[in-house]
Order: sequence, then C-alpha cells, then structure tokens
Amino acid sequence: MDAKSLIIGNWKMNLSHLEAIVVIQKLWYRLDTSDFDRAEVVLAPPFTALRTLQTLIMADRMPFGLGAQHVHWEREGAFTGEVSARMLAKLDVGYVIVGHSERRAMFGETDELVNKRVRAVLAEGMTPVVCVGETLSEREAGGTERVVTTQLRGALRRLTAEQRGQVTVAYEPVWAIGTGRHADAGTANEVCSLLRDTVSAMAGPRAGEQVRILYGGSVNPGNVASLMVKRHIDGALVGGASLDPDTFAAVVRYWL
Ligand code: 13P
Repeated sequence: MDAKSLIIGNWKMNLSHLEAIVVIQKLWYRLDTSDFDRAEVVLAPPFTALRTLQTLIMADRMPFGLGAQHVHWEREGAFTGEVSARMLAKLDVGYVIVGHSERRAMFGETDELVNKRVRAVLAEGMTPVVCVGETLSEREAGGTERVVTTQLRGALRRLTAEQRGQVTVAYEPVWAIGTGRHADAGTANEVCSLLRDTVSAMAGPRAGEQVRILYGGSVNPGNVASLMVKRHIDGALVGGASLDPDTFAAVVRYWL
C-alpha cells in the first residue's frame, strides 16, 4: 500500500468543458504542494472535457491526474459512440473507472464486460478503477460479501498476478451513492479488507498488499477523515462533492 492516498473526483455527466476549466483552476488555487505530497488527486470529467483539462494540466504544470469514466475494449473500428483505451492513453489519462454501479444498473454492464474493459485499460498502461458494491436489498439479505467478491473475481479474470496487483478497486455500496448516507468507516473497512483478501487469494499476498482500495458513496468533508484513517482504505472515489472546488478541496485536505 502507498502512503499517499488516492482521491478521484468522478464528475459523472456534469460540467461542460468550459465549466471544467473554472473548476480545475479554482481547485488548483485552493490546494498547495503539501496537499499533493499527501494525496494523488485525479479528476475524471466527461469525455468532452478530457482534452481541455489535459491541455491546462500540461501548460500550467498542475499536479492533477486525469481519469476517464468509461472505455470500450476494442482498439478501433465501427463502434459508433465508443472511445478506446488507446485514445484515452493518448490524452494522458491515467485511470479509467470501470463497472460503476450506474453503468451496471442503467447500461447493462456485466462482470464479463467489466473484465474486457479492465484488460483493455491495462494493455494501454493505465489503471482501471474497478467499482464493486451491493444494493440495499442485497445488503439486507446478507449478500454483501458474495456480491462484492463475485464482482471483483469477475473483473480480475484472465489477468496475470502482477496485473491483479496493479488494479485499483473502489468499494461503492449502491445504497450510499448520491444518498448522503455513507457506509460507516468500520463496515467499509471490513469490506475493503475482504476485497484485499480476495486479491491475495487470486494473485498472492504481494498483489493483495499492492492493490489500492478506495471507498466511494456520499464521501464529503465531514466524513472523509474517518474513512481514510482505516487500514484497508487507500483513498476515495468522490461524486457530488467533487463538483464544487471548495468542497472537493476540503475532501482532499481531510487531515487538516
Ligand atoms: P457520490 O459521492 O455523489 O455519492 O457518488 C459516489 C460515486 O458514485 C463515485 O463514483
């Protein structure tokens, strides 16, 4: 595990490329070098803002990383509306979110498709951020462990042990996303520990130590510190609270 935490802002389908410029500039103004020493800060805007942010990051030497929210597994071809991993890598994208619960629920994402995307992302030298998480009814039926480990095992199929250690996993309980109701830190840590054990079982203890595990679901400036201090939580995947520069800066500076 890395001492630096990884904080990814998933903007979802929000902010035009013009609005994105305002947000990244304000955010940069609010953070200082010591913040970037302690946290790797990644912005995952819609596709339409990636090139804009990449240009700004490069021109002003901003220490932000860039993430994408989706990817197709084929390299190129007749796939109207899709974007390939190679195209993202050319934009200096370092992280690609895969298997987000919104895509699983609304766009027919299966573990098999998640696995194809994971392999395409790794092949281009980027890091997949594999999202797993149970719904409220699955939790209430005692199915959390089964759901998250099945999703993770499916995502990591047909990878080498080394590749399994390179993946980032995000535990995002579906009932906590956009609801203002986050998982309590102890529970989140237990699930993250289980996910780490799953990687160890599939790829050995080294990969289990190496894999980064994030928590996501209603992370905000008030709850982030309690989550980040936990042994098995290496960072956060932040939705709504990443859209406002003041709020996101407060999340990034959670130790203050
Ligand atoms: P919220 O932080 O808005 O709950 O969203 C979490 C999420 O889905 C991040 O990917």
